[in-house]
Order: sequence, then C-alpha cells, then structure tokens
Amino acid sequence: MGTLKVLLLLVVQAVLAITLFVDVTTAGKTCEVASKGNSGDDTDAILSAFKSCGQNGRIVFGNQVYYVKRVMNTTGLRNVQIELRGKILARINHCLFADTTYWLEQSQPIGYQNMSTVWWLGGDNITFDGFGTGTIDGNGQVWYDLVKGYSNYPRRPMGLTIVNTTNSIFRGLRFVQSQMWTMTILRSQNVLLTDIFVNSTSRSRSPARNTDGADTLFVNNITFRGWKVINGDDGISLKANSSNVLIEDCDFYGLGFALGSIGQYKGIFEHIENVTVRGIRYFGTQWPAYIKTWTGVAKGYPPNGGGGGFGFSNVTVTRAYGAFQIGQCTHFRDGGQDGDCDTSRFQIRDIRVSDIKGTITKDSVASLKCSASAPCSGLSFSNISLKRESGASIQKYSCANVVDPKGFNCGL
Ligand SMILES: *[C@@H]1O[C@H](CO)[C@@H](O)[C@H](O)[C@H]1NC(C)=O
Ligand SMILES: *[C@@H]1O[C@H](CO)[C@@H](O)[C@H](O)[C@H]1NC(C)=O
Ligand SMILES: *[C@@H]1O[C@H](CO)[C@@H](O)[C@H](O)[C@H]1NC(C)=O
Ligand SMILES: *[C@@H]1O[C@H](CO)[C@@H](O)[C@H](O)[C@H]1NC(C)=O
Ligand SMILES: *[C@@H]1O[C@H](CO)[C@@H](O)[C@H](O)[C@H]1NC(C)=O
Ligand SMILES: *[C@@H]1O[C@H](CO)[C@@H](O)[C@H](O)[C@H]1NC(C)=O
Ligand SMILES: *[C@@H]1O[C@H](CO)[C@@H](O)[C@H](O)[C@H]1NC(C)=O
Ligand SMILES: *[C@@H]1O[C@H](CO)[C@@H](O)[C@H](O)[C@H]1NC(C)=O
Ligand SMILES: *[C@@H]1O[C@H](CO)[C@@H](O)[C@H](O)[C@H]1NC(C)=O
Ligand SMILES: *[C@@H]1O[C@H](CO)[C@@H](O)[C@H](O)[C@H]1NC(C)=O
Repeated sequence: MGTLKVLLLLVVQAVLAITLFVDVTTAGKTCEVASKGNSGDDTDAILSAFKSCGQNGRIVFGNQVYYVKRVMNTTGLRNVQIELRGKILARINHCLFADTTYWLEQSQPIGYQNMSTVWWLGGDNITFDGFGTGTIDGNGQVWYDLVKGYSNYPRRPMGLTIVNTTNSIFRGLRFVQSQMWTMTILRSQNVLLTDIFVNSTSRSRSPARNTDGADTLFVNNITFRGWKVINGDDGISLKANSSNVLIEDCDFYGLGFALGSIGQYKGIFEHIENVTVRGIRYFGTQWPAYIKTWTGVAKGYPPNGGGGGFGFSNVTVTRAYGAFQIGQCTHFRDGGQDGDCDTSRFQIRDIRVSDIKGTITKDSVASLKCSASAPCSGLSFSNISLKRESGASIQKYSCANVVDPKGFNCGL
C-alpha cells in the first residue's frame, strides 16, 4: 500500500513537472523564421512567426535573405524580442511594370498626406534588434526609376510603419534603398530608435527623392540617437502632433532635419512641441534644419496650427547651404516653394539655435521667412560661427515677419 502511495505521488509530481515545463516554454517561446531562398515568398513564414511568438516571445531572422512579396500587418505585439541577423528584401521582380503595379495596388493608406505602407508593425514592449547588420532593403531603385523624381507619387509605398507602439526599442538596424519614406512612426509613444543606418542612394539619373530617413505623426516622447542617414531627402522629419522629441548624435548626408511640412488640412489644428536636436553633424546638406508649413490658400487648404519649443544646438556643418530655414510656402505643386507665403496661419515660436559651427556656401546664416498672417516670435541665435570655405565669416540673416529677434539682426 505504502509503495502504491509513493508511486501515485511520483506520478502526480511528474504531471505537475510537465505542466510547469510547458508553461515555461510558452512564456519564452522562440520562433526561427525559415527562408525559402531566392525567388520564394517568405511572407507567410514571417506572419506565422509573429502570430506564434508575438506575445511574450522571441522571433529570430537568421543570416539569410527573406523575400516579402505581400503586405504585412504585424501589430498587437507584446513583450517581444525581434532579432534580425539577415536581410529582409521587399521583392520586386525584374518584370518591373508588373511588380511596382502590384505594390501600387496593395499599399495601404496610413491616413495622412496620401501616404501608404506595406508593413505595419506595432505593440507594447517590443525590442527590435539588428545587431548592426540586420538589414531591411526596400529595393528602391525600381521606384526611383519609375517615378523619375516626381514628388509624393500617389501610392508609392513607404517601407516600415511603426504604429500604435509604446515602450519599445529599435536598434542596430540598417535600412537600404527604401521605396519611399524609410519609416513612419505613427500614433506611438515612449519609443527609442538608436544606432540606425539609412542609405537610399540612386544609382541612375533618377533621384532618390522622398526617401526620408524617418517621419513622425501623432507621437509623444520619441528619441532618435546615433543615426547615420545618407539619402535624397529629409534625414528625419517631424510632422503633425509630434511632441517631446529628442534627436541626438547623428550624421546627416541628405537634406537635413525638418519640422513639417505641417498645417495642410482645412479646419484641423496640428502642433509640433518641445523638440531638441543636438550633437548633429551635417555633410553637404542643403539646410541642416528647416521648418516648412503649407500656404493658406485654397490650392491646398488654409492651414491651422502652431509649433514651439525647438532647440537646435551643438551642430557641425560641412559645406551646407546655410544653417537654418523657415518657409511657410509649401503647396501642392510638386513640392514647389513659390507664392502665397504670407497666408499661412501656422504659428511658429520659441526657437533657440546655439553652438553652430562649420562651413556654408550661402551668404547668410539663416533664412527666416515667416508668414505675415502669423509672424514668428521668440527666435534666438547664439554662438554661431559659420564660414565660407575661403575662411570669410558669415553674419547675415535674411528675414520676413520676424518679431523681436534675439542675438541677431535681420538684414545684417
Ligand atoms: C492590423 O491588425 C490589427 C490586429 O492586430 C487590426 O486591428 C488592424 O485593423 C489591422 N490593420 C490593418 C491596416 O490591416
Ligand atoms: C518586456 O519584454 C521583455 C521580453 O522581451 C521582458 O523580459 C520584460 O519583462 C518586459 N517588460 C515589461 C515591463 O513587461
Ligand atoms: C490625395 O491624392 C488624390 C489623387 O490621388 C488627390 O486628389 C488629393 O488631393 C490628395 N490629397 C492629399 C491630402 O494630398
Ligand atoms: C491603431 O489603433 C487604432 C485605434 O485603436 C486602430 O483604429 C487602428 O486600426 C490601429 N492600426 C493598426 C495598423 O493596427
Ligand atoms: C520616454 O520614453 C523612454 C523610452 O524611450 C522611457 O524610458 C521614458 O520613461 C519615457 N518618459 C516618459 C516621461 O514617459
Ligand atoms: C550607399 O548606397 C550606394 C548605392 O547602393 C552605395 O554605392 C554606397 O557605397 C553606399 N554608402 C555607404 C556608406 O554604405
Ligand atoms: C521636452 O523633451 C525632453 C526630451 O527631449 C524631456 O526631457 C523634457 O522633459 C520635455 N519638456 C517638457 C516641458 O515636457
Ligand atoms: C492634434 O493636436 C491637436 C491639438 O494641438 C488636437 O486638437 C488634435 O485633435 C490632434 N489630432 C489628432 C489626430 O490626434
Ligand atoms: C556635441 O556633440 C558631439 C557629437 O556630435 C558630442 O560628442 C559632444 O559631447 C557634444 N558636446 C556637448 C557639449 O554636448
Ligand atoms: C560655442 O560653440 C562651440 C561649438 O560650436 C562650443 O565648443 C563652445 O563651447 C561654445 N561657446 C560657448 C561660450 O558656449
């Protein structure tokens, strides 16, 4: 009888132990994504890994090439680690017409400025690590050649859209040859993006236009640190309702850092607030930092909105055009910047630019062309040391509708 009791107890303990073991493995579940190799479509394998391991799990992309041939929606993730050691390629076949046509049909609108995406990714407590080598390749050359520089070609898709995301980290990732905007951070907060390399460079005569490094929309508390962006458009661009954003220790080789364009929609108030950009190095860029708002006339819509609290400091520029620009003239004609510049009602205020040094090619430090309908206030410049390559120091500022300038004289 005694032996039977002991045996029963052992059986019960064994069952408990097995249950415990299963629980532990579910909690720390790892999905390794298998690649089919060249010409296969790995979309299903990727989606199924996110489905099985997207909650309290780990998703591992090995040192292989993964081809994505369909739109992906990997949202609603939680406590997940994504490891990318290989390369994810947005596959577009040599049959160029057929495949760009597919993506133009399938890309999904993000609900702003006619932009669309092919990969939604989001959730809470995501760590997406590329270990400095994991690469997302948008196969962008076919897009640069297709649109031939036409700005904001309808339905041309951006690469990655980080959406509805909180408390997450993206690090050590490389993004090359992005289709359009490299990524958008949309409706998200408390996100850190660090050690990110972006290179969208056209190998043909068609420019890599609209290949922004990152754009933000409806975000709060976002940090960009240690980015290197080589591209044909904005390095990082903050758009509607972006607040408490820090950008530091980055190298920009494209157009620079942009606030906007913003203020496009009729009757809708948008804001950008408390943005700090510091410790940045620019190489051959046009304007290291610029603010662009839409015009107030019905070619677009009367813009509404305001932005304030922008600090731009500790910046080194090498052969930039100037240091800083404000323009309130953006309108629909293919990104052009002429006419109706005094109609924007977007209010720009409280901008501090300091500790800027390096070489520029223009004859003024800054071009500050504010709208007569909403003059800029609280602009200050200090410790600016800019020279021509010849060594001549540049002191001039060109302004319109700037109220009470601090640390500089308009027209001097
Ligand atoms: C993406 O999937 C989520 C579920 O995680 C769903 O709520 C959402 O509507 C989907 N979005 C799109 C654009 O398909
Ligand atoms: C976030 O997810 C990681 C697993 O990737 C987990 O170890 C950690 O406890 C989670 N943090 C919170 C606050 O849930
Ligand atoms: C979106 O694109 C359509 C044409 O495709 C155009 O009529 C419309 O004005 C665009 N809207 C915005 C906000 O850009
Ligand atoms: C993001 O969240 C909003 C609001 O909950 C929801 O309507 C939208 O479908 C979500 N987007 C995606 C791509 O999951
Ligand atoms: C901002 O986000 C970071 C993560 O990038 C987080 O550590 C920090 O607590 C957040 N700050 C606030 C005020 O929520
Ligand atoms: C950027 O991409 C172009 C085109 O692929 C390439 O020629 C160039 O070497 C790349 N630059 C860097 C720094 O990787
Ligand atoms: C402004 O943003 C910074 C992060 O760049 C944050 O530390 C600071 O608390 C914010 N200031 C306010 C007033 O929210
Ligand atoms: C953007 O912020 C403004 C306030 O500045 C607010 O009225 C508006 O609802 C916000 N828009 C969205 C889509 O959250
Ligand atoms: C200025 O920025 C550089 C990075 O470009 C950084 O190494 C340095 O510590 C910063 N200096 C100050 C005073 O913050
Ligand atoms: C002026 O800016 C330079 C960097 O451009 C910095 O090294 C120096 O400390 C600053 N001087 C003052 C007085 O803040």
